Amino acid sequence: MVNSKVLEVRNLLLHYSTVRGVVKAVDGINFEVSKGETLAIVGESGSGKSSTALAIMRILPRNVAAYGGEVWFKDLDIMKIDEEEFRRKVRVEGISMVFQGAMNSLNPVIRIEDQVAEPLIVNMKFKRDEAVSEAHEALKLVGLDPAIGRRYAHELSGGMKQRVLIAMSLVAKPSIIILDEPTSALDVITQANIMNLLKRLKEELGFTYLFITHDLGLASELADRVAVMYAGKIVEIGSCEDVYIHTKHPYTKMLLDSVPTLREDKHPAFIPGAPPDLVKPPTGCSFHPRCPFIVRGKCDVETPPMLYAGEGHNASCWLLEKESG
Ligand SMILES: Nc1ncnc2c1ncn2[C@@H]1O[C@H](COP(=O)(O)OP(=O)(O)OP(=O)(O)O)[C@@H](O)[C@H]1O
Ligand code: SF4
Ligand SMILES: [Mg+2]
Repeated sequence: MVNSKVLEVRNLLLHYSTVRGVVKAVDGINFEVSKGETLAIVGESGSGKSSTALAIMRILPRNVAAYGGEVWFKDLDIMKIDEEEFRRKVRVEGISMVFQGAMNSLNPVIRIEDQVAEPLIVNMKFKRDEAVSEAHEALKLVGLDPAIGRRYAHELSGGMKQRVLIAMSLVAKPSIIILDEPTSALDVITQANIMNLLKRLKEELGFTYLFITHDLGLASELADRVAVMYAGKIVEIGSCEDVYIHTKHPYTKMLLDSVPTLREDKHPAFIPGAPPDLVKPPTGCSFHPRCPFIVRGKCDVETPPMLYAGEGHNASCWLLEKESG
């Protein structure tokens, strides 16, 4: 593996068992993130974005039906190590995460500085004073006055709480931070402030992110590369320019056309039909029931592999087979 790769995911799979059957939330996905780079994972609600993050972080619910694949953190396949080694080498210091909707799960009775310091004390055996001083540095990095550390969660605004969560995720100086919808519960101005903060940390300090969002616009602000997820699979991956301008997958195109624009005199298109039931995903290409370009007898029968769409650009659509001859 090339050294600059921080995270490499191969054939990652996470299925859940439910009373209705097995939910194929993450169904064999591949991607990599290099040092200093941001990969955005975008897709509709229920496409498997959070499940991907939880699978990487090994935070699994009790109803897991299948969990497998390879997750390389630098030169270590972290799927193969035991829980103790995972805690030491990966959690907090290696890969950290800002969880979706976690803003309201800050502990109401513990001061902010102690919550930010906690990962250092618990996982890295820091003394309390040192850990709190690091916590103050982390609060400064995210644009908060360290004096806020003496406060409790209910004394903070939503934007401040989200900054605290980001401070918690970076306090141990991890190699990569997974951000799962870090701004979705915030008003647009606060959202813009948080996005600016993330950009500043990336540009000035070289942070590496896996940025999960349903919002293609937000993804384009922070990402170097984008992976589009549909029904537990990545259907298109490439640089922002590849995915947004030289778009190959019909789903990506329809997703882009569905984004409302304020200034252009263009109505957003909507994608007909509904995302598939992951207990019984469609045969062949899982997008075929909604795709205007479906080739009957092919798309509804055979699952398209990831096909070449250009250097570093791949999409799983049979139309590409024709293009490449
Ligand atoms: N513990 C679970 N048990 C059963 N099904 C689950 C569980 N967690 C998630 N799912 C299902 O797995 C699929 C993927 O869910 P996931 O939360 O990963 O999607 P998502 O892309 O993050 O969606 P959102 O944009 O709404 O956050 C969905 O169909 C969801 O209902
Ligand atoms: S493989 Fe067929 S159904 Fe699937 S996206 Fe491509 S054209 Fe549409
Ligand atoms: Mg999610």
